[in-house]
Amino acid sequence: MTTRRKLLGASALLVAGAILVSGVMLSHDASCPSDGTDVAPIGAVTMHAARYRCYGDTRVVQWVTVARPVPSDSSVLVRVHAAATNPLDWHYMRGKPYIMRLSSGIGRPADVRLGQDFAGVVEAVGVHVTRFAPGDSVFGASTGAFGEYVTVRHNAAIAHLPDSMSLEEAAALPVAASTALQAVRDVGQVARGQRVLVNGASGGVGTYAVQIAKSLGAHVTGVSSGRNAALVQSLGADVTIDYTREDFTTAAARYDVIIDIVGNHAPWALRRALVPHGRVVVVGGPERDRWLGPIRAFLSAIVYGWFVEQTFTGMLAETTQQDLEYLATLVAQGLLRSVIDQRFEASELRAAIAYQEGGRSRGKNVVRVP
Ligand SMILES: NC(=O)c1ccc[n+]([C@@H]2O[C@H](COP(=O)([O-])OP(=O)(O)OC[C@H]3O[C@@H](n4cnc5c(N)ncnc54)[C@H](OP(=O)(O)O)[C@@H]3O)[C@@H](O)[C@H]2O)c1
Repeated sequence: MTTRRKLLGASALLVAGAILVSGVMLSHDASCPSDGTDVAPIGAVTMHAARYRCYGDTRVVQWVTVARPVPSDSSVLVRVHAAATNPLDWHYMRGKPYIMRLSSGIGRPADVRLGQDFAGVVEAVGVHVTRFAPGDSVFGASTGAFGEYVTVRHNAAIAHLPDSMSLEEAAALPVAASTALQAVRDVGQVARGQRVLVNGASGGVGTYAVQIAKSLGAHVTGVSSGRNAALVQSLGADVTIDYTREDFTTAAARYDVIIDIVGNHAPWALRRALVPHGRVVVVGGPERDRWLGPIRAFLSAIVYGWFVEQTFTGMLAETTQQDLEYLATLVAQGLLRSVIDQRFEASELRAAIAYQEGGRSRGKNVVRVP
């Protein structure tokens, strides 16, 4: 064997070994420590909040007493009254897909707070905050929303509640409606008169996507199971397709934009349902891949898009103040509403996360924080 071949063989072994070790490290679940680093010192002002100190099923989620967060000079302290669940919550809880542990923590979570979406009342503001005042009703997204208090920077994901909305309905908006808005308006670039198909129209993101596409003047087709067709129609969909009876990728209709929230069709199948120069926006994907999860659907769409005339994009949404204000305006104009499936008490948080993980939600699920 030549020296060159030996070197190549050794390098390949090293790479394979490195991949194996990284894989073992990423997928390893460390044990659960009995106490966290945020336990309130004696005499501190406290609150109840959900914590998960290791990865696992819903049993790792516990309500504990911790120190109440203190707002910085440019932050707002909000007393949370309602929080909503998202698939993101159980992804964090399980640390799956494993790839996300590169940011959420290897072995166990780096940040033990849980929950994103909240609505509540401003309790206190920092000295530089002028946009919000104590007593204001607000909604937004901040890590730790499953807790009595959150702090949010005054220019981050927080906005005033639309008058016509309850705290529970507003708590449902931030992550799911921002995702729908960015998918339909920004990435999908939906314009008046275009034909838009929303795959997964009855879920958290889908119920908002249908309404936002209608608000932009599109002709909307919503794909859901038959049991949710009436709901999707009530949100403004012009046409509904029951996915248990009909596969839209093999039907005759063609769409300008497909918002794919389910990721159950290959990119080449989606292309069959597109007009030339149409767009596919992949928002979600099958969860069964424990290493990459929905990211696999994003990647295959993006790579496929390099070789065809249509545009294929995978997107990760960011919740911003500007978008929350836009959503609040749509609500105030009567163009957007939240569909609430289940309401849970704080003591039922584990059941709320498990229900969300079940994947059968009709719209959003809300947790009341007393
Ligand atoms: N990219 C991002 O930034 C971003 C942000 C938020 C969420 N997501 C992802 O988007 C996905 C959806 O989130 P979500 O909050 O909307 O989830 P969800 O509320 O749990 O979605 C549940 C809905 O999906 C429907 N559904 C299941 N299989 C379907 C199929 N084959 N065809 C059509 N509809 C189907 C279900 O209806 P039936 O019960 O009738 O089947 C149910 O109404 C998740 O993968 C999530 O991780 C991505």
